[in-house]
Formats: sequence, structure tokens, C-alpha cells
Amino acid sequence: MTSDRTIDPSAFHDFEHVGWERAAEHYARTFGTLTVQATDPILDAVQITPGTQLLDVASGPGYVAAAAALRGATVVGIDFSPAMVEDARRRHPYLVFEEGDAEALPFEAGRFDAVVMNFGLLHLARPDAAIHEAYRVLAQGGRYAFTVWASPDKAIGFGAVLRAMEAHGTTNVGLPDGPPFFRFSDVGESTRALAAAGFSNIVVRTLPLVWRLPSGDALFEAALHGGVRTSAALRAQTPQALAAIREAVLAEMRGYAVDDGIAVPMPVVLASGMKR
Ligand SMILES: C[S@@+](CC[C@H](N)C(=O)[O-])C[C@H]1O[C@@H](n2cnc3c(N)ncnc32)[C@H](O)[C@@H]1O
Repeated sequence: MTSDRTIDPSAFHDFEHVGWERAAEHYARTFGTLTVQATDPILDAVQITPGTQLLDVASGPGYVAAAAALRGATVVGIDFSPAMVEDARRRHPYLVFEEGDAEALPFEAGRFDAVVMNFGLLHLARPDAAIHEAYRVLAQGGRYAFTVWASPDKAIGFGAVLRAMEAHGTTNVGLPDGPPFFRFSDVGESTRALAAAGFSNIVVRTLPLVWRLPSGDALFEAALHGGVRTSAALRAQTPQALAAIREAVLAEMRGYAVDDGIAVPMPVVLASGMKR
């Protein structure tokens, strides 16, 4: 799904936008059950206290914004998908969610004490621009944190689907190329990107998240409908290839069976820094 071909950021951005509009109705019951687990660690990383002015970028259904509000923060969530913003407003009618782009934040410099981005960076056409934007809208002493999935050899839910696609289908299905999905899984790369934007006090650590699902099929369905790049690549396979990919995923998931379904390792890289 990534190649050495030149990336057209506008084409990829539009592809992601259309994809999230489509995925929004499936997201909360699929990946949302997992991403919500990173809420407390990401808020701890930006040292939320009552009164903190927090921006939740790529807020999706608003999990992080809602948890921050419970801790007494004043929160704004922004997301470029109107369907996601609508979902967040419906779930949390007492909070502020706006449409906006992570790569060009609609806020003045120094407006926030903390900025977070839970599983947003890996979907962006211009992730470095988003990190610079987070830096710009932070006040001095403000903190930024983002999460991304660990590499697919460790984040098994992704690894199983990608391996099955490589073995039984194709990852070259003519989708717009984007930046490498797992770029920021690398500690050095996350550290470099934060430092390049001006951040200091950089800390990168791993969260040992586990995805508990009722079955291997539930994981396959999540991959098919709950995201953008992987979902689109799966839907572009031939019916025969898709059936073979599904079988391979189910076979791998049998190795993660527990009493009430499956428990799949999905570690997360959490990176944070401070604006001096
Ligand atoms: C994987 S979801 C994460 C949602 C939420 N933060 C969570 O923790 O579950 C990615 C979100 O990023 C949003 N997104 C992707 N690209 C964006 C962009 N350029 N600007 C703002 N939001 C974006 C999508 O609409 C989607 O809601």
C-alpha cells in the first residue's frame, strides 16, 4: 500500500477524506473499541489538569476529548470528516467538536496548553505539517502527544491482515500512495519528527494494548470496514482472493483464542514533547 512512487499529497488527502466519511459508521464498534484504551495514557503524557485548554486533533468519536473533559480540561475536538464530527457531537453533546484539518489547524498561535492526536498521524498526507501545526497552536510550556500502532510484526491485528493480503491477494490495487503507514512506529523517527518541529523533553514509549474481539471474523470485518487504507485494499481484491485472505486471517487468529473470543496484541507507540 506504499511504494517508492512519488506521493501526491492532495490525492491521498482526498482519498482519506472519502474513506473516513465511509468508515465513520463502522469505526466506533470496530477500531474504536481498541483506540479508546489509549485515552488515559495520552492524557497523562500531556499532563492534563483541571483547566487545561486541550485540542484533540483527529478526534473521531471524541473518546479523548470526553475523557479530558471528565478530568476538568476545557476541550475542543477537530476532525476533517463531517460524519465523524456529527458522531462525536451526538455522543458528547456538551462538548465542542468542529470540522478542521490537522495539517492546517484553524486556531491562532499559542491558543492551547495541550494538543493530542490519538491514531491520527498515520492517516495524514502531510504528517510533519501536522506536527508543526500542533507546535504552533501550543503555548510555551505546552505539551503534545500522539499515538500510532507499533510495527505489524508486533501489532498482530494489522500484521495478520497485511501478511494474508501479500500471500493470497495483492497490495498493489491502484489506491493513491500515501506516507508509510508504520513510519512513526519507529522510535527514532518519531523522536526526529518531534525534534524537527521544535519539541524538547521528547519521550517515546510503548503501550501494550490488547484487542479483545468475539471472533477472528470480527477482526476481519473491522479491517474490511473500520479503516481507510487497509479497508480499501481489501475491498479491491477479487472475491476469490478476499475469501483466501479471510481464511488466512481466521487461521492466524485461532492462535489468539481465549474463552470468549480472541485477544490480539496491538501495542502502541506513544510519543510526546514539550514546547519550550
Ligand atoms: C483512526 S481514527 C482516530 C479517531 C480517534 N482519535 C480515536 O482515538 O479513536 C482517525 C481519525 O482521523 C481523522 N483524520 C484523518 N485525516 C485527518 C486530517 N487531515 N485532519 C483532521 N482529521 C483527520 C479521521 O476522520 C478519523 O476520525
